[in-house]
Amino acid sequence: MQEKFYISTPIYYPSNKLHIGNSYTTVLADYVARYQRLLGKEVFFLTGTDEHGQKIEKVAQEKGLKPLEFTNGIVAWIKELWQKLDISYDYYIRTTDADHCKRVQAIFQKLYDKGDIYKNVYKGWYCTPCETFLTDTQVGAEHLCPDCNRPVETAEEECYFFRLSHYQDRLLKLYHDNPDFLVPNSRVNEMVKNFIEPGLQDLAVSRTSFSWGVPVPFDPKHVIYVWVDALSNYITALHYPDEPVLPEIWHNSLQILGKDIVRFHAIIWPALLMALDLPLPKKLYAHGWLMFKDDKMSKSKGNIVDPMVLTDRYGVDPIRYYLLSELPYGGDGHFSNESLIERINIHLANDLGNLYSRSVAMFVKYFQGKVPSDCKPVSTAFDTDLEAALEQAISKYHKCFEENQYSNSLAAVFTLVRRANKYIDETAPWILAKDESKKGELLDVMLHLLEVLRQVALCLYPAMPNSMLTLLNGLGQKTELTELVNEFKTVGKWQAFSSKETLVNASPLFPRLDMDKEINFLNDLLAKQQAALAKKSEPTSEEATNCKLIDFSDFTKLDMRVGTVISCEKVKGADKLLHELIDLGSLGQRHIVSGIAEQYQAEELVGKQVVVLCNLPKRKLKGIESEAMLLTAVDQAGNLRLLQPEQKIENGSKIS
Ligand code: ME8
Ligand code: MG
Repeated sequence: MQEKFYISTPIYYPSNKLHIGNSYTTVLADYVARYQRLLGKEVFFLTGTDEHGQKIEKVAQEKGLKPLEFTNGIVAWIKELWQKLDISYDYYIRTTDADHCKRVQAIFQKLYDKGDIYKNVYKGWYCTPCETFLTDTQVGAEHLCPDCNRPVETAEEECYFFRLSHYQDRLLKLYHDNPDFLVPNSRVNEMVKNFIEPGLQDLAVSRTSFSWGVPVPFDPKHVIYVWVDALSNYITALHYPDEPVLPEIWHNSLQILGKDIVRFHAIIWPALLMALDLPLPKKLYAHGWLMFKDDKMSKSKGNIVDPMVLTDRYGVDPIRYYLLSELPYGGDGHFSNESLIERINIHLANDLGNLYSRSVAMFVKYFQGKVPSDCKPVSTAFDTDLEAALEQAISKYHKCFEENQYSNSLAAVFTLVRRANKYIDETAPWILAKDESKKGELLDVMLHLLEVLRQVALCLYPAMPNSMLTLLNGLGQKTELTELVNEFKTVGKWQAFSSKETLVNASPLFPRLDMDKEINFLNDLLAKQQAALAKKSEPTSEEATNCKLIDFSDFTKLDMRVGTVISCEKVKGADKLLHELIDLGSLGQRHIVSGIAEQYQAEELVGKQVVVLCNLPKRKLKGIESEAMLLTAVDQAGNLRLLQPEQKIENGSKIS
């Protein structure tokens, strides 16, 4: 029977758009899901959104929307992001789904019927942004939330409690008997020493002060505590309790989460499962954070880096690779513009990209891209070493997956890539090619390189699916999933390369980036985002008063026309400037220099209609005389878009 594998991410708060840091959890889960599929397993990859609670209710209200209207918008954006990042989830759960709500109510009812939930009065502290009740010790003398450091509020109300204290001993036993339930182990110590051993208190699991949540079925003025609602998603997605036992797949489950939410997953979650007499997941892996100049990345600090923008500019696979290689086992990673560009250039463009393009180019040059029928490979002195390096690297790669050492799994493959580049230097195929009697050795070298590349591409497929399929295609390999699964069984053992196809030279897999240019781009982007954040806090009425009236006669002084871009090129020595030649019909042609090179490629503008302000004095930019101005719209963040007529119209037409 086909083995099964369950993997989940936490479900995201749709309170804001995600940044590149919190995309990590899901990219990582996708990496693991794709690896498990390559192993031939039937995978259930679950992700979704955590949409209830006071925080969401507040944010929606501020925007003048109903909570669901608000979350619908963010959820659509998140799904688009996951599509961009090639996330292959099997099921997307929303805690607002009717099925989920019904099942959470059934879970709550079960716990109540069993006596694990009871009614009492809650007095204490509450952190609204985190939706957590806190004890005196947790808030300390300064009354601050231990998680977000913001001031907490006092709360006193009647509510339902979950008997968490009853599960203290069973939790201690769990971590004693099965320390690998939660990895890295340092997290286990933290949970046991700081929370479980000092004594667990019963947990308030309902609220009456707001209504955006799942109603308690037997007392509907209460809504169910958002963490109980949210954690339940992991099993309501498996139809529990409609199906009263969890399916087989749950027994081989890995739950991925960030270090900020370990307490909920390592204490409350197993206790809830114990109370429901359900088996626990097999393993929890808590990863670190992606930090930005040593601060946790967050939108309120203005250091958000938009994952959409980054993938648009650098492509999805380089961004996935960067994230996956940046965070070490259980620890934090550090985002910097320099390290992003450097990693892409060194690992992807240089090491892997070059190995591929050089190898294929030589095979095409020396053997017309086809294994010859009249020549047999003859071993070289360097083969066994390369073969051993391959076996070692790939066995390490697999071991890393077992040990949740994900960045090291990639590092293992890249060690092999660099070893293969060294093999080219050692064997010097260009010298072998000069001597007809060495043809067998030359062929052997080519086949070794192609075989390494084939196995590397299979191993890196879970991290960079698109580019590795391109690579495999380029090597004349089949790329349907069933083929990949078959071939994946062979990786880690040396075998002779074969292909029925004739290989041809391909365009670079990962184009090299210009460091200075990209750093400028990324710094600008960040500055714009920060400026936009600063601006948003100013009253908009100020902008409104600055909007001064003019006479119509002033307006008519502007000579604005529609024109078509005839040609366009980048201005040498200027990152932001494009030089266009515009056909303005009866006005003739004009040269224009405009600062739009960061938003538009020269080629994409040719043939487009644009709007031009024609009666400004000429001015010289980088030695080129600009004879008019292209009109653009600029948003608060400084993003810029060209104005265009809504339909094609004759060149030279006036704007009025
Ligand atoms: O916690 N680097 O949702 P969330 C890496 N709704 N990971 C980060 C990160 C960073 N800078 N910032 C956030 C929630 N994350 C709850 C979960 S599950 C039943 C309920 C990670 O949107 C974070 O650790 O705040 C978590 O894994 C994920 O992003 C979603 O966080
Ligand atoms: Mg969070």
